[in-house]
Amino acid sequence: MLKIGVYASGGGTNLQSLIDACKEGALKGEVVAVISNNSKAYALVRAAEENIPCFHLSGKTHPEKGSLAKRMLELFEKNGANLIVLAGYMKLLPPEITKRYRDRIINIHPALLPKYGGKGMYGPNVHKAVIEAGEKISGATVHFVDEIFDHGAILIQRTVPVMADDTPETLAARILKIEHQILPMAAGMFLC
Ligand code: GRF
Repeated sequence: MLKIGVYASGGGTNLQSLIDACKEGALKGEVVAVISNNSKAYALVRAAEENIPCFHLSGKTHPEKGSLAKRMLELFEKNGANLIVLAGYMKLLPPEITKRYRDRIINIHPALLPKYGGKGMYGPNVHKAVIEAGEKISGATVHFVDEIFDHGAILIQRTVPVMADDTPETLAARILKIEHQILPMAAGMFLC
């Protein structure tokens, strides 16, 4: 059974897709802990509403070198996490985490990597770049996480059309819907 530790910085709709898939039995597992670098992230509210242990941890709460990674690891290990999911997490993970959970950390990105990824490619920036480049297709990618932004091997991609009148917002909304499908699907790959 999967015991999923989630990192999220924002609204947490992808976190919700994991919670719902577990509750519906589509994914054999549970979300066991949620960590956010943003104390105001709605993802923390979603976790609290489900009685999932949730924590605000950042360089501000843990300024001493190494203490942030140590606390993150403690919390995930205490709650038995065996898969880590970055569901809209805006920070690079400390190397202690990627080392400890090597090949057990995945991220969802709202574009077809390896294009439109890397530092600065988050939120509306991604969709703006896709539209400005005149792409006809975009989509979402779930990939393994390593020490470099949006870099690890790809697990699943799904495409959507880019419409002539798309704005970053309309394209983001179309992509978010498929993110909610492929993220639980990707997590399920770790069951065997
Ligand atoms: C998603 O588009 C995800 O691909 C990106 O950040 C966004 C998070 O959305 N990494 P939410 O917080 O899950 O609603």
